[in-house]
Amino acid sequence: NIKGIIFDLDGVICSTDEYHYQAWKSIADEEGIYFDRNINERLRGVSRAESLEIILERATASYSPEQKAALMEKKNNIYRELLKNMGPRDVTEEVRSTLRKLREKGYGLSIGSSSKNTRFILERTGLTDAFDGISDGNMISRSKPDPEVFIKAAGILGLKNDDCLVIEDAVSGIDAANAAGFHSVGIGPAAEYEGAEFKIQNLSEILDI
Ligand code: BG6
Ligand code: MG
Repeated sequence: NIKGIIFDLDGVICSTDEYHYQAWKSIADEEGIYFDRNINERLRGVSRAESLEIILERATASYSPEQKAALMEKKNNIYRELLKNMGPRDVTEEVRSTLRKLREKGYGLSIGSSSKNTRFILERTGLTDAFDGISDGNMISRSKPDPEVFIKAAGILGLKNDDCLVIEDAVSGIDAANAAGFHSVGIGPAAEYEGAEFKIQNLSEILDI
C-alpha cells in the first residue's frame, strides 16, 4: 500500500558529488589539508557542517566557529558557481520517465534532501514541477541519519511514514528512513547496504516494487 515516494536528490535524481568534491577540494588545498575522492565518499548524504568536520579531521590547525562558517560560505559559493553548469541534460531520460510514470500511477512524489541548494538544483535541471513536495536542508535542524527531512516530506504529502518509499544512495539516508518506519530503497552505494529493505540498480526498477 505504497502511496508516496520520497527521493533523495544528490546521487538519486542527479549527480552533484563531483561538484561537491571540486568545491571542497579547493577549500582543502587552500588550507593545506589533504582531501581526496575517497574521503569525498564519506560526505554522501552528510550536511555541509558535518562535511567540513570530516575534512578538518586531517587539519593540523584548529578552527573557530567563525572560521568554520567562513569556510562553509566560501565552499558554497564555489559550489553554486559550479552548479550553474548544470542543466536539463544532467537528468537522465530514465529518471524523467520514471517520475512521469509514477505520477501517472497516482503516487505522491517528494524530495527529501539535506541540501540547502535543492531548489536551485531542481530549477537548473527543470524538475521543480515533477514533485508534489520538497523537503530540504533549509527545513530541518537535524540531518540524516535523523529522519526529520523524510518526516517533513511525508507530512507535505499528507501520508503516513509507512505508506512511503524512501530512495537513497547514502547509508545515512537508509538508516534515517528505517528509523522512522519508512520503506527504504538503496541505489548506488546504498544498494550494497544490508539495511536497505529493497535494492535497485536503476531508478526505473521502483516501478516494479
Ligand atoms: C547532500 C549531499 O545531498 O547535501 C551532501 O549528499 C551535502 O554531500 C549535503 O553535503 C548538503 O548540501 P548543501 O548543498 O546544503 O551544501
Ligand atoms: Mg544522496
